[in-house]
Amino acid sequence: MRELTLKKIKVGLLGCGAVGTSVYELIQKNQDKYYALLGAEIEVVKIVVHSLDKKRPSIPNQLLTLDPNEVLEDQDIDVVVEVMGGITDAKDYVLKALKNKKHVVTANKDLMAVYGQPIFELGDQEQKLVLFEASVAGALPVIGTIKNDLASNKINKVMGIINGTTNFILTKMFDEGLPLDLVLKEAQDLGYAEADPTADVEGLDAARKIAILASISFNTRVVLDDVYVEGISKIATDDIEYAKQFKSTIKLLGIAIVNDGKVEVRVHPTLIPLNHPLAKVDDVYNAIYLEGDAFGDLTFLGKGAGGFPTASAVVGDILTIGKNILNPVSKIKNCTCYLDLPIKTIKQVESHYYIRMIVADETGVLSKIASVFAENNVSIDSVIQKKLANKKAELVLLTDRVEEDNFMKAKVGIESLITVDSVTSILRSEKEN
Ligand SMILES: NC(=O)c1ccc[n+]([C@@H]2O[C@H](COP(=O)([O-])OP(=O)(O)OC[C@H]3O[C@@H](n4cnc5c(N)ncnc54)[C@H](OP(=O)(O)O)[C@@H]3O)[C@@H](O)[C@H]2O)c1
Repeated sequence: MRELTLKKIKVGLLGCGAVGTSVYELIQKNQDKYYALLGAEIEVVKIVVHSLDKKRPSIPNQLLTLDPNEVLEDQDIDVVVEVMGGITDAKDYVLKALKNKKHVVTANKDLMAVYGQPIFELGDQEQKLVLFEASVAGALPVIGTIKNDLASNKINKVMGIINGTTNFILTKMFDEGLPLDLVLKEAQDLGYAEADPTADVEGLDAARKIAILASISFNTRVVLDDVYVEGISKIATDDIEYAKQFKSTIKLLGIAIVNDGKVEVRVHPTLIPLNHPLAKVDDVYNAIYLEGDAFGDLTFLGKGAGGFPTASAVVGDILTIGKNILNPVSKIKNCTCYLDLPIKTIKQVESHYYIRMIVADETGVLSKIASVFAENNVSIDSVIQKKLANKKAELVLLTDRVEEDNFMKAKVGIESLITVDSVTSILRSEKEN
């Protein structure tokens, strides 16, 4: 263990991509402020990468290594910053760093949404901090805020736009009436979407983040497998147009609610009214809305990705650790999950629903559909009907709030009506904040 009188906090980076490079550059850029605040210099002493051949103009060559043990086993390194991504190596390295008595900062939601618990437990055992502010919504300061500044509250709802790629796509579809595949191509050309966009488009990235947010907000362990996930790949331009007619937009939301001692946690495209705070969050921006018993409601808005916005959160965590190294707290407790609440199935979740269907254009169709809904305790909020060719019509309904199980039973009943050709789209809708 190094002497704490040394006025340097030594950092080893695992990874030097978009985030790692920005972390290094930000530390160089704002070093004067960090020194003034801490009374110690933050020094990056080693950076682990995959390839030594890549051009990294801002990084001194002598810092780079292919050997993770040059960071993990260096007794002089105080803080290991994992910004390489992936799960298997990242988990092994983070656990080894903790065993070797190093504090850990990670930006890795994939890792924390699955292995948060064993990582925290080892951190607690070794009395080393594990901080992960950048793992959810990049620059938005939500993790530390929920765990520390809002700890006086019981939080009962977290809802957010936590994937910039899908928000960019849905914003373009709404503003320009373009189909999803065309907008996705544009997002890829602009570097907003990966070559393989599945994790973003199918909601997996947002699911990892809402699992982390639910865990820290409700103090109960929620992992990726607990999250009900639906992506945006089935959203048609027609759905966007009907949403507009209902004075709404469609956003991919992560939603986590604790109610009657049970947790619901889900990611799906959602109709929200245009006057809802999240409806105005456009392009690659992220926003997270919280409800708590003392603060009421709070919304965070900002850049959820990108090198410097993410480095902002990572370096903030390094500073927190730096303060702790220089003035240690008596007992570190990384894990705040003191409850073990059950998770609701999607059938138990309550929501408003949007349903679009092709029906025979004849009298009495709507009343038959309304009867099926009524038999299943579903009440209709509003209806749009559009004439199509060949004596067909498109019928779009919004329902009042109902349990998903009831709604889905009604849907099966409606599909069995001979006057209904097909149900073409179902979406959930959030009316309240
Ligand atoms: N980019 C963002 O906007 C953003 C936002 C929030 C969170 N994050 C998270 O931050 C992390 C890093 O993201 P990024 O965008 O910076 O990724 P990236 O650009 O792909 O960089 C990854 C870096 O890690 C190195 N690396 C990967 N696997 C390695 C291994 N097994 N051993 C050694 N080095 C390895 C790579 O080396 P080479 O350079 O040699 O290839 C590269 O330097 C991820 O967990 C990501 O989810 C990113």
